[in-house]
Amino acid sequence: MLGALLPATVSVAEAFGDAEPAPLLGAEEAIVARAVARRRQEFATARRCAREALARLGFPPAPILAGGNREPLWPPGVVGSITHCTGYRAAAVARRAELASIGIDAEPNEPLPPEVREVIMAPAEMAGMARLAAREPGVCWERLLFSAKESVYKAWFPLARRWLDFSEAEVVIDPEAACFTARLLVPGPPHGAGTLGGFSGRYAAGRGLVVTAVAVPA
Ligand SMILES: CC(C)(COP(=O)(O)OP(=O)(O)OC[C@H]1O[C@@H](n2cnc3c(N)ncnc32)[C@H](O)[C@@H]1OP(=O)(O)O)[C@@H](O)C(=O)NCCC(=O)NCCS
Repeated sequence: MLGALLPATVSVAEAFGDAEPAPLLGAEEAIVARAVARRRQEFATARRCAREALARLGFPPAPILAGGNREPLWPPGVVGSITHCTGYRAAAVARRAELASIGIDAEPNEPLPPEVREVIMAPAEMAGMARLAAREPGVCWERLLFSAKESVYKAWFPLARRWLDFSEAEVVIDPEAACFTARLLVPGPPHGAGTLGGFSGRYAAGRGLVVTAVAVPA
């Protein structure tokens, strides 16, 4: 589902379950040593997807460890992102020469709990939801907006190396083009000759999921 949302230079691998064997490599084991079985499985399958995606770029199998903020640590010269939710795991990677950062996220196509809605959406973003729901009632648009923000965060973090709050980016969804923009309401990280003002991404809904992806040009 995610492959179609990202540039052709991105290698994506996805899984709709944990059926295939997914051995952990090296110090990956320590990351989930005390985790419950469900977490171990999603972690292992997503790591397998990541190795599969990296192999297509020519990288041999190697442990993919995690940084101090849980971010995946990719081989030198690689950018990427990982997501998992019930029934879906995916990884997307690209060479740093092609893209500066990637963020992917998958969520069940289910309504957000009301208490979460308040935290993740600004009034302007909430106002857009009714219009989207009237147009396409089968999509949980609030969940999709949440996913877009998670993708934005995963693309933001490796560039800025700091937290980005849900209130610090304003997301506008364009249902005509199945894409979205996220305008940063705080100073962006350095990018090229200037700073990054925002992100653009694409989304898809299907198979009981909403998925979003953000790619930042090199
Ligand atoms: C980190 C976060 C985005 C993960 O999203 P999630 O929907 O809970 O979980 P997902 O399964 O989709 O993604 C989890 C993966 O994200 C990746 N991830 C975690 N922290 C990350 C970070 N700081 N930077 C980049 N990627 C990160 C990891 O690969 C993780 O999987 P792993 O632990 O198995 O390696 C989320 O928990 C979070 O903290 N969100 C708050 C910040 C935010 O979204 N701000 C909005 C800004 S507009």
